[in-house]
Amino acid sequence: MGNRDWKTIGFGYSKADFNIRCYYKNGEWGPLEISDSETVNMHIAATCLHYGQQAFEGLKAFMGKDGKVRVFRMTENAKRMQHSCDGILMPQLPVEKFNEAVRLAVKKNMSFVPPYGCGASLYIRPLLIGTGPEIGVKPSEEYLFMIFVMPVGPYFPEGFKPTDLLIMRQYDRAAPQGTGKYKVGGNYAASLAAGKKAKQGGYSAVLYLDSREKKYIDECGPANFFGIKDNTYITPKSESILPSITNMSIIQLAEDMGLKVERRKVPVEELETFEEVGACGTAAVISPIKRIYDADMDKEYLYGNEPGPLSVELYTKLRAIQNGEEEDVHGWTDIIE
Ligand code: PLP
Ligand code: COI
Repeated sequence: MGNRDWKTIGFGYSKADFNIRCYYKNGEWGPLEISDSETVNMHIAATCLHYGQQAFEGLKAFMGKDGKVRVFRMTENAKRMQHSCDGILMPQLPVEKFNEAVRLAVKKNMSFVPPYGCGASLYIRPLLIGTGPEIGVKPSEEYLFMIFVMPVGPYFPEGFKPTDLLIMRQYDRAAPQGTGKYKVGGNYAASLAAGKKAKQGGYSAVLYLDSREKKYIDECGPANFFGIKDNTYITPKSESILPSITNMSIIQLAEDMGLKVERRKVPVEELETFEEVGACGTAAVISPIKRIYDADMDKEYLYGNEPGPLSVELYTKLRAIQNGEEEDVHGWTDIIE
């Protein structure tokens, strides 16, 4: 992996050496297995194929300045996957098993962790799927949990350069009391058409409004939304958005920096009043936004071509903890040895 051009690497799939697998049969999870195959062989009637019975996660490992590899907040991802499992009736994977699988996946692919300071990191993708055959709509009796990894660069090609978002009211990502709060594939399938339209228009993502009233900001396609004004970090509270672990971390950092934090409904008109806005997530990290275009109202909100000072500070702090440059006072990282 040594010769790779890490500075220009994008967010895409590439093969690492090994992936981890764990099977659920007869009501229990088996041992972790190590595989070097990129494929899975499964029943044509598997519930994941027909009825979308699957959940996934996304987390990252970073090469530190001290040469140690740190995984960011894996226990939170383990717990969120359990929550997704509850949502679509899959058996929970124990947190310790999830964490052990993450450690093993990173350890077996250490040479794929991008070097310190290059801007890239190792993306870790856990996936839990229903594999048992059912043709009636009901939960599977058998499951497969997997983790594979790959080095990635920024999700939005601009990286930490501000990008544009698009509001379109004719698309919903998730129903008000549906599966938006779970990390399940169906939400992402539902976002493909709108996402394609946004990308064709030169936008990095769709900014979804709440599906019930179209009055409040929900989140971006692959990330939570935040706005900053009057020394206050404001992020939407909604039943249909994914509880972002990055956002949870930034909220803590904002509080540490002495900012006020508000988690509440954010009316779309409030976009006018923000000094800085951004999208945040594991893949997106903190992506500053320079322009939001509301296509239905033909209205644009502008935030400047450079990242705002508080977004820069939050980004720098978060990345410094991930890289082991700043003391991890909240205990967010696990060193893989
Ligand atoms: N919202 C959606 C829809 C996502 O897919 C993601 C990515 O995981 C996020 C928000 C950000 O969540 P996290 O910070 O836990 O990666
Ligand atoms: C992540 O940030 O980990 C995501 O899952 C977002 C996207 C790639 C779906």
